[in-house]
Amino acid sequence: MIRVLTYGNFDLFHVGHVRLLERASLLGDELYIGLSTDEFSFKGKSKETIIPYNQRYEVLKSCRYVTEIFPEFHWNQKIRDIQYYNIDIFVMGDDWRGKFDFLKEHCEVIYLSRTPDISTTYLKDILK
Ligand code: CTP
Repeated sequence: MIRVLTYGNFDLFHVGHVRLLERASLLGDELYIGLSTDEFSFKGKSKETIIPYNQRYEVLKSCRYVTEIFPEFHWNQKIRDIQYYNIDIFVMGDDWRGKFDFLKEHCEVIYLSRTPDISTTYLKDILK
């Protein structure tokens, strides 16, 4: 059983998210997501989420590629999560390339190419 893990806000769920989750899920048997809480997103990443955590959770849970979702409260929980959930592969989009290489002593680390021309920031800008 190969377990894959990724993190993110997944706010205003869009096709870039879907493709990232599909490709991440194909790397293993189960896909775990650390979903940033509204507070962590705001204080830790300076991003105000439009859709509240419980609704982002519900949307993600309905995605066929996702096995389990847990809250991401801060930057420093990743090693503990990898150990707790017995994670084999850590995946992020390549906007994060290199940033999580320190996890390589705990599991495999893979950066996937982002889908071009779509992001939550882009959607927020249009809505404004
Ligand atoms: N992602 C992707 N392709 C996109 C947008 C996001 O592969 N076009 C990936 C990110 O690299 C990340 C995951 O989806 O691994 C969750 O990204 P998130 O930050 O929640 O979404 P963004 O659209 O990047 O949000 P923002 O614009 O606020 O940074």
